[in-house]
Amino acid sequence: MDIQTLTSTIKDIAIPGKGILAADESNGTIAKRFDTIHVEPTEENRRAYRDLLFSAPHLNNYISGVILFEETLYQHTVNGTPFPTLLSQNGIVPGIKVDQGLVSLKNSPDEKITQGLDDLAKRLAEYKKAGARFAKWRAVYQISDRLPSQSAVDANADVLARYAAICQEVGIVPIVEPEVLMDGNHSIDRCFSVTKSVQLAVFKALAEHNVKLELMILKPNMVISGTHANPQAPIEEVAKKTIELFRETVPATIPTINFLSGGQSDELATAHLNAMNKIGHLPWNLSFSYGRALQAPALRVWQGKMENVKLAQEALLKRAKLNGFASEGKYKNNME
Ligand code: 13P
Repeated sequence: MDIQTLTSTIKDIAIPGKGILAADESNGTIAKRFDTIHVEPTEENRRAYRDLLFSAPHLNNYISGVILFEETLYQHTVNGTPFPTLLSQNGIVPGIKVDQGLVSLKNSPDEKITQGLDDLAKRLAEYKKAGARFAKWRAVYQISDRLPSQSAVDANADVLARYAAICQEVGIVPIVEPEVLMDGNHSIDRCFSVTKSVQLAVFKALAEHNVKLELMILKPNMVISGTHANPQAPIEEVAKKTIELFRETVPATIPTINFLSGGQSDELATAHLNAMNKIGHLPWNLSFSYGRALQAPALRVWQGKMENVKLAQEALLKRAKLNGFASEGKYKNNME
């Protein structure tokens, strides 16, 4: 294992005041996002949109890493610079989503398991040649009265750990992303107990597969009310319960926890991260790896039009900056 390479990648990503931009939507997912602004999901439109995001001036003040989708890893700016080269030149670490999506779990068809392990080592070697220095793999868990099942929790933990071990072996830092979904009307306490069982299973599997915790990134959900729960837990409670849970389950050797936004509004995702960092005395760097919560305003402004690119970049930059502040507990509502 190339510990030096992995260590320097972690060092370049886990920077106080900075976080990760998740721009790794699959072609299916980005098509759904484009549909909301009536933009055709062509390869060129996907390229133009990612070009807008990655070329935003001074993005590197707040963003230390970007997660790309496979197609994007091999695309170029309008001037012909490969995206990974552009990002690296700007001091941003390029990474790549390497899972190949979700399939139904046998014998529990309402639940999902993530696929893509079979040829992973071979694909990682190719991605590394193209400039990727870290990877991402997402497992999802649905909450209902009876879900997730222990078998879904254990099977996904095992796959996440095997993925992480393969990444470290080839010198790629793994982002381990177990996402307990917000969908549903469950309480914040139900989210707490499910997320706890998921995190415990993940760290048990990581230990069994000899994954080096100091050389990986954890990308979890926050402990939060279900989308349709009424009432919604307030910001301070989300922060307190999330930190309580991660203190109980996540070893201090994990260098950085970078949360997903999971469908929270952009402002709420920022406020939650800020409230957690205000608690202080945390053993890990605590930052963001947001997709929707960073991109949504930029996408709305862009509308697929060249003349909106500059304003869309400003919208992205604003969210990146405010989340940068939140990652140090320095965000204030009036900055909006
Ligand atoms: P969201 O922040 O939109 O949840 O996306 C993060 C991500 O990478 C999901 O896998």
